Parts: sequence; structure tokens; C-alpha cells
Amino acid sequence: MKSICLIACTLLFAAAAFPQTATQPPGQYIGSDKCGLCHTEIYAEFYKNPHYKSIASGRETPDKTGCEGCHGPGSDHMAAGGGQATIRAFSQMTPTQVLDTCLSCHSKDMSRANIRRSAHTEADIVCTNCHSVHHSSTPKFLLAKKQTELCYGCHAPIRAQFDMPVKHRVNEGVVQCTDCHNPHGNFAPSWRTGSGSNLVTASHDNEEPCLKCHVDKRGPFVYEHASVRVEGCSACHIPHGSTNAKLLKRPVVFTVCLECHNGAGTFGRENQGIVIQSASHNMLDPKYQQCTLCHVRIHGSNSDPRFLR
Ligand code: HEC
Ligand code: HEC
Ligand code: HEC
Ligand code: HEC
Ligand code: HEC
Ligand code: HEC
Ligand code: HEC
Ligand code: HEC
Ligand code: HEC
Ligand code: HEC
Repeated sequence: MKSICLIACTLLFAAAAFPQTATQPPGQYIGSDKCGLCHTEIYAEFYKNPHYKSIASGRETPDKTGCEGCHGPGSDHMAAGGGQATIRAFSQMTPTQVLDTCLSCHSKDMSRANIRRSAHTEADIVCTNCHSVHHSSTPKFLLAKKQTELCYGCHAPIRAQFDMPVKHRVNEGVVQCTDCHNPHGNFAPSWRTGSGSNLVTASHDNEEPCLKCHVDKRGPFVYEHASVRVEGCSACHIPHGSTNAKLLKRPVVFTVCLECHNGAGTFGRENQGIVIQSASHNMLDPKYQQCTLCHVRIHGSNSDPRFLR
């Protein structure tokens, strides 16, 4: 009785793991070396592929091993002497079918835990748009193209942003798109208050990706600048590139500050009037326009509530 359930449950589990949509071809598993009889080039290169491990280990079940781990059982295909109808041919599959096939093995990793709700998946951009299993041009991660070229291929306007005078040196290889973005999607990080996409990576402790490299801005500070903690870095900075010094949102520092500190009389936010003067700052004196000459610890201070030191 127990063993019947074992078989039945295994079958049920297998059916669930391989959804109908993944176009399971009919037939039996024949092993990768048979595929090599006709697909000589792909077979000859396959030992370099990370997916070769399933053959090398000899520990996987046939449906998870080698060629048939992705393409499904090949007996009918071989008997027919080839053809697209008898095998799981990715060129004939819908984006959802591709996704389901790859995720039948790749769903456990946290980096892809929310992939079904990512902006890419929602736009029908799936695994094989970015990864090439057999014709990858990068040794790592089976990318279809070198990372920058891959992303620019679809996000052409972004290229120009990384050619601006002030920028993160992505084109020079110092910083990568994936230092800040998870192409597989995230759960909405807590510091993202807006509705924006879920492709901006959170680093440890669900922080902004920026803090992974700019650790001196992490704090906690005795005196936090609320904007840094609440709105995040993009309250004042453009992340990619800009003509403005220090990647600021505006060309002149004080105009960035006055976006928020615009209450007449004080620099407080209570009043939304346009500021020309404040009790402590004579804004007609050009000296006072250089806010960060005095407020030097603009990201937060451990000794001064006004960030003066
Ligand atoms: C990890 C999944 C995976 C494994 C394992 C795999 N393939 Fe593929 N195969 C693909 C994908 C995806 C494509 C579509 C083209 C691409 O993305 O590179 C493809 C395409 C093909 C094609 C179409 C021609 C071409 O060059 O694109 C053939 C033939 C093929 N695979 C044979 C094989 C053989 C033979 C093996 C084993 C040696 C194998 N595949 C192992 C995923 C896989
Ligand atoms: C007897 C020779 C033969 C054997 C054995 C064979 N194939 Fe094929 N296969 C072909 C031919 C011929 C085609 C059609 C070629 C074409 O359409 O470009 C084909 C097409 C394919 C395609 C479709 C490519 C596409 O997307 O258009 C895939 C995938 C594939 N084979 C995988 C496999 C796998 C995996 C095995 C082993 C389980 C295998 N083949 C065994 C001859 C064979
Ligand atoms: C929009 C492009 C894109 C899509 C879509 C995409 N990937 Fe990736 N993937 C990448 C990039 C870029 C990397 C390299 C990340 C890095 O350099 O840190 C990567 C890395 C990986 C890695 C290795 C590192 C890790 O996170 O484990 C695996 C495995 C992987 N992807 C699988 C998949 C699967 C499976 C799918 C579909 C379910 C998929 N990817 C969809 C771009 C993409
Ligand atoms: C039968 C299970 C299985 C399927 C289906 C499968 N993979 Fe994998 N994949 C693996 C295993 C196992 C590894 C190796 C992990 C390791 O290195 O420990 C791997 C590794 C990878 C890597 C990482 C390469 C690297 O350099 O780290 C990428 C990218 C990847 N797979 C993409 C895909 C894509 C795209 C698909 C769908 C076309 C797919 N996989 C389908 C099992 C699978
Ligand atoms: C095959 C095309 C394609 C590739 C390759 C691609 N993307 Fe995308 N990406 C899209 C589409 C389509 C969307 C959704 C529509 C849009 O917002 O542009 C999108 C959305 C995004 C978004 C969210 C945009 C927003 O406005 O919310 C980010 C961020 C992003 N991609 C980054 C990347 C990165 C980083 C890479 C490289 C690892 C990459 N993409 C590779 C097509 C692609
Ligand atoms: C230094 C971190 C960082 C790097 C590196 C980076 N991004 Fe971004 N990117 C961001 C942030 C943060 C946002 C979100 C801005 C917002 O929503 O306020 C963003 C937004 C985007 C968007 C959506 C908004 C738009 O302008 O269309 C796309 C697409 C995008 N990035 C693609 C890329 C690509 C492609 C690369 C690599 C060539 C890249 N990013 C490198 C941080 C970065
Ligand atoms: C992978 C590491 C890394 C990440 C992540 C990162 N940065 Fe940077 N950032 C750098 C490096 C390196 C420089 C120095 C620029 C150079 O030398 O080209 C820099 C420079 C800067 C500068 C100063 C530019 C100048 O002209 O002096 C600002 C502002 C900045 N980053 C903000 C951010 C923000 C905001 C984020 C998050 C959206 C971020 N960074 C994410 C590595 C990173
Ligand atoms: C309230 C506005 C504001 C916010 C929010 C902000 N910055 Fe800045 N940041 C500035 C200003 C202004 C400068 C230029 C300082 C100067 O002129 O001396 C600057 C300069 C920088 C620099 C280059 C000089 C340096 O101190 O290293 C980096 C890197 C930087 N910011 C990173 C970040 C990061 C990371 C965040 C998010 C944690 C962030 N900033 C949030 C206003 C801000
Ligand atoms: C995104 C909005 C925002 C921007 C931009 C901004 N701040 Fe602030 N700042 C705040 C908030 C919120 C507080 C907390 C005090 C409050 O509620 O008025 C604060 C507090 C301060 C304080 C301490 C005030 C006090 O009463 O203790 C100083 C000084 C300050 N900011 C200077 C600046 C300077 C200089 C800039 C430009 C480089 C700047 N801020 C840009 C939102 C902002
Ligand atoms: C010449 C040095 C100097 C410059 C330049 C300067 N501040 Fe100040 N700021 C101070 C001092 C000193 C205080 C503390 C005044 C006090 O405690 O009475 C202060 C206080 C503040 C406060 C707290 C509220 C208030 O009015 O006392 C804010 C907000 C502020 N500055 C914002 C700015 C902004 C925005 C700029 C640029 C437009 C700027 N500061 C330029 C020296 C300066």
C-alpha cells in the first residue's frame, strides 16, 4: 500500500514539476550520447557547459540529465530522424513555456524567487532572451552577450547615460548593471517608497544597492539627514550618469537642497513658499548658496545636528 502511494505520489509530483505548458514530447529517455550521433557540434562542446554536471555526476534521474533535462525524452525524435515536433524545441516555445522549463530546476535560488513577477517576465523577456545555452559568448553565466551589450541591446537610451561626463564607470568595467539591478527581479525592497520596478537590487539587510560600495554613507549616524534614510539616495542623485558634478539631480547644489528646504523664513519644510531669505542665511549673499561648504556631512553626522561637521 505504502509503495503504491510512493509511485503515485512520485508521478503526481513529476506532473506538477513539469507543467503541461512545457510541451513534454512523447517517448522515452535515450541518453545524451545518442543525441551526439546527429548533433555532433553541440554534443562536442557540451562538456564545457555547467549543465554537463548532470551527466558527469551520474546521480540525476534521466529527466534531469544532459540534453533531455531540457529537451525532454528523445526516443520518438530519434526514430523520426529529427524534426521539431518530436522534441522540445525552444525555437517553437512561448515565453511561458521557456520560463517553466528552466524554472523546473532553477526556482530554488533566492535571486530568482520573485522572477514571475519581475518587470522582465511581465514584458515576456525570459531566460533565453539573456542566456544562450549552446552559443554563449561569455565563460560565466552563459550570457548571450557580454553584460553591457546584452542590456544595451534592449535599453539603448541607457548607453548614452553612461557616456556622460559624470557617471558610474560601467562601460569601463568598474561597475556592472547587476551591481544595482537584479535582472531576475526582487521582492519590493522596503526603502523603495515609489511604485517603480522591482529590478533594483537590495543589498544586505534590504538596503539600497548603493551602500554595498559607498559604505561610509551607511550610518547609522547620531544625526541622520532624514532625506537620505527616508527617500533614499535618488532624492538627490541620478544613479547612471549626468552632466552635474557628483551625479546630483541639479547642476547647482543649493537648488537640490531647496527642493525640500523651501519654507520661507526657515529652511523647514512646513511652508511650501519659495525661499529667498532665511533667518540664518542671507540667500542674496552668494556665499550662502554653497550649502555643502558649511554643511559638509550632508549624508549624516555623528557630532552635529546641522551636519556642519
Ligand atoms: C539547459 C538546457 C539545455 C540543455 C541541457 C541542452 N539544451 Fe539544447 N537548447 C537549449 C536552448 C535554450 C536552445 C535554444 C537556443 C539557445 O538558447 O541557445 C537549444 C537549442 C538546441 C538545438 C537547436 C540548434 C541550436 O544550435 O540552437 C539543438 C539541436 C539542441 N539544443 C541540442 C541539444 C543537445 C544535443 C544537447 C545535449 C548535448 C542539449 N541541446 C542540451 C537548451 C538546452
Ligand atoms: C538521427 C539523428 C538525430 C538524433 C539521434 C537526434 N536528433 Fe535532434 N534533430 C535531428 C534533425 C535532423 C533535426 C532537424 C534539424 C533542423 O530542423 O534544423 C533535429 C532537431 C532537433 C531540435 C530542434 C531544433 C530547433 O529548435 O529547431 C532539437 C532541440 C533537437 N534536435 C535535440 C535533440 C536531442 C536532445 C536529441 C537526443 C535526445 C536529439 N536531438 C537526437 C536529428 C537528430
Ligand atoms: C534580462 C536578462 C535575464 C533574464 C531574463 C534571465 N537572466 Fe539569468 N542572469 C542574467 C545576468 C546578467 C546574469 C549574471 C549576473 C551577474 O553577473 O551577477 C544572470 C545569472 C544567472 C545565473 C547564475 C547566477 C545565479 O543567479 O544563480 C543563473 C543560474 C541564471 N541567471 C538563470 C536564469 C534563468 C533560469 C532564467 C529564467 C527563468 C534567467 N536567468 C533569466 C540575466 C538574465
Ligand atoms: C535539469 C535541470 C536544469 C534545467 C532544466 C536547466 N538548468 Fe541551468 N543549471 C542546472 C544545473 C545543475 C546547473 C549547474 C549549477 C552548478 O554549477 O552548481 C545549472 C547552471 C545554469 C547556469 C549558471 C551558469 C554559470 O556559469 O554559473 C545558467 C545561467 C543556467 N543554468 C541557465 C539555464 C537556462 C536558461 C535554462 C533553460 C533554458 C536552464 N538553465 C535549465 C540545471 C538545470
Ligand atoms: C531582450 C530585451 C531585454 C534585455 C536583454 C534586457 N532587458 Fe531590461 N527590460 C526589457 C523590457 C521589454 C522591459 C519592460 C519595459 C520597460 O520598462 O522598458 C525591461 C525593464 C527593465 C527595467 C525596469 C525599467 C522600468 O522602467 O521599471 C530595468 C531596470 C531593466 N530592464 C534592466 C535591465 C538590465 C540591467 C539588463 C541586462 C542585465 C536588461 N534589462 C536586459 C527588455 C530587456
Ligand atoms: C549605480 C547603480 C546602477 C547601475 C550601475 C545601473 N543602474 Fe540602472 N538604475 C539604478 C537605479 C537606482 C534606478 C532607479 C531610478 C529610480 O527609480 O529612481 C535605475 C533605473 C534603470 C532603468 C529604468 C529607468 C530608465 O531610465 O529607463 C533602466 C532601464 C536601467 N536602470 C538599466 C540599467 C542598465 C542597462 C545598466 C547597465 C548598463 C544600469 N541600469 C546600471 C541604478 C543603477
Ligand atoms: C559596485 C559599486 C558601486 C555601487 C553599487 C554604487 N557605486 Fe557609486 N561609485 C562607485 C565608484 C567606484 C565610484 C567612483 C567613480 C569613478 O571613479 O568612476 C562611484 C561614484 C559615485 C558618486 C560620485 C561621483 C563623482 O563625480 O564623484 C556618487 C554620487 C555615487 N557614486 C552615488 C551612487 C549611488 C546613488 C548609488 C546607488 C544607486 C551608487 N553610487 C552605487 C561604485 C559604486
Ligand atoms: C539630501 C541630498 C543627498 C542625498 C539624499 C544623498 N546625497 Fe550623496 N551627495 C549629496 C551632495 C550635495 C553631494 C556633494 C557634496 C559636496 O559637494 O561636497 C553628495 C556627494 C556624494 C558622493 C561623492 C562625494 C563623497 O562624499 O563621497 C557620493 C559617493 C554620494 N554622495 C553617495 C550617496 C549615497 C550612496 C546616498 C544614499 C545613501 C546619497 N549620496 C544620498 C547629497 C545627497
Ligand atoms: C528630499 C528632501 C531633502 C533634500 C533634497 C535636502 N534635505 Fe535637508 N532635510 C530634509 C528633511 C526631511 C530634514 C529633517 C528636518 C525637517 O523635517 O525639516 C532635513 C534636515 C536638514 C538639516 C538639519 C535641519 C535641522 O533643523 O536640524 C540641514 C542642515 C539640512 N537638511 C541641509 C540640507 C542641505 C544643505 C541640502 C542640500 C545639499 C538638503 N538638506 C537637501 C529633507 C531634505
Ligand atoms: C556659510 C555657512 C553656511 C552655508 C553656506 C549654508 N549654511 Fe545652513 N546653516 C549654517 C549654520 C551655521 C547653521 C546653524 C544656524 C543656527 O543654528 O542658528 C545652519 C542651519 C541650517 C539649517 C537648519 C535650519 C535653520 O535655518 O537654521 C538648514 C535647513 C540649513 N542650514 C540649510 C542650508 C541650505 C539649504 C544651504 C544652501 C542654500 C545652507 N544651509 C547654506 C551655515 C551655513
